[in-house]
Amino acid sequence: MRTKINIAVIGAGRIGRLHAEHLAYRIGGARLVAITDLRKEAAEECAANLGVPQAFQDHRRVLDDPEVQAVVICSSTDTHASLIADAAAAGKHIFCEKPIALDLAQIDSALDTVAAAGVKLQVGFNRRFDPNFRRIWALVREGTIGETHLLRIASRDPAPPPIDYIKVSGGIFLDMMIHDFDMARYLIDDEVRELYAVGGVRVDPKIGKAGDIDTAVVTLKFANGCFGTIDNSRQAVYGYDQRAEVFGAKGMVSTENNTPNRSRLSTSEGVREDLPLYFFMERYTESYLNEMNAFIECIIEEKDPPVTGQDARVPVVMGKAAGLSYEQNRPVTLSEIS
Ligand SMILES: NC(=O)c1ccc[n+]([C@@H]2O[C@H](COP(=O)([O-])OP(=O)(O)OC[C@H]3O[C@@H](n4cnc5c(N)ncnc54)[C@H](O)[C@@H]3O)[C@@H](O)[C@H]2O)c1
Repeated sequence: MRTKINIAVIGAGRIGRLHAEHLAYRIGGARLVAITDLRKEAAEECAANLGVPQAFQDHRRVLDDPEVQAVVICSSTDTHASLIADAAAAGKHIFCEKPIALDLAQIDSALDTVAAAGVKLQVGFNRRFDPNFRRIWALVREGTIGETHLLRIASRDPAPPPIDYIKVSGGIFLDMMIHDFDMARYLIDDEVRELYAVGGVRVDPKIGKAGDIDTAVVTLKFANGCFGTIDNSRQAVYGYDQRAEVFGAKGMVSTENNTPNRSRLSTSEGVREDLPLYFFMERYTESYLNEMNAFIECIIEEKDPPVTGQDARVPVVMGKAAGLSYEQNRPVTLSEIS
């Protein structure tokens, strides 16, 4: 019979419910045995909806259970580092949503506990598992477009999050652009040495009053000589805009937005197609499924996780470097941060 990994989800909020549904129905190698949430009713509701046998308020209930082999941490960011430490000490393999923490010392300490325990840790940089972006990555790696010269990433949300969220999010570079920093390293398959950030408030003055910006452009210089740009807006009126392009000595590869269907209506008035899929839950469903399958596979096959602790750390360094660059209006090398 096929091996199944007994797994528990910690945190039954937006992303926790999505991962729980995948684990309950769509990940052949996993058996979802419990859900925990500080809000016990959230854990109970999620478990009842998915036919999961156990729901707890205290995450220690799953860490103390020898039957549970792995946990998926989907609680709020400020809890990730301590939950990783607890889970590693209990000998559980760990999938943790990004970021591990906004503080580098906390990230390092969590990674140390994982290394000491010898458990697997995969962090939720799901866009790496999106088929479009994976295709760019593969073509760059196999040299099809030759030496890379330019990277362009456009990443714009359909609408800003609530102001209360903005206040605690860590700001646009750590909360939103962190995914794009990860994509930049992933697509070019190289490290960024230096970056320069500009930005401002173009969408909503309340975001500025909360201490953040809503529009930003960051230029990147990679160690291999490639240059990149990332642009972010917290509001694209036409929906979630997620595009990337890599240009190299032998050609160019780019991706367009995913739409609900591929039909295109042509009339005497013009040519129309549907708007992009609305937001990350719709746009990246397949990537969330793929990343969880990869995590379970690395436990079953005793392989290293495809997104490492270092992959979790570097985008936070880049986010901090971008924040410093924006504040001081100058290029910042990553070595200044880490
Ligand atoms: N990879 C992605 O695309 C993606 C998308 C959304 C969110 N996230 C990340 O996932 C995390 C959760 O985000 P969300 O939008 O689902 O938040 P959310 O607020 O909807 O859910 C968080 C849940 O965790 C629970 N919780 C808090 N502390 C807990 C603890 N100690 N034990 C158990 N449960 C606890 C809360 O009660 C809440 O139900 C964040 O770190 C966020 O950055 C990643």
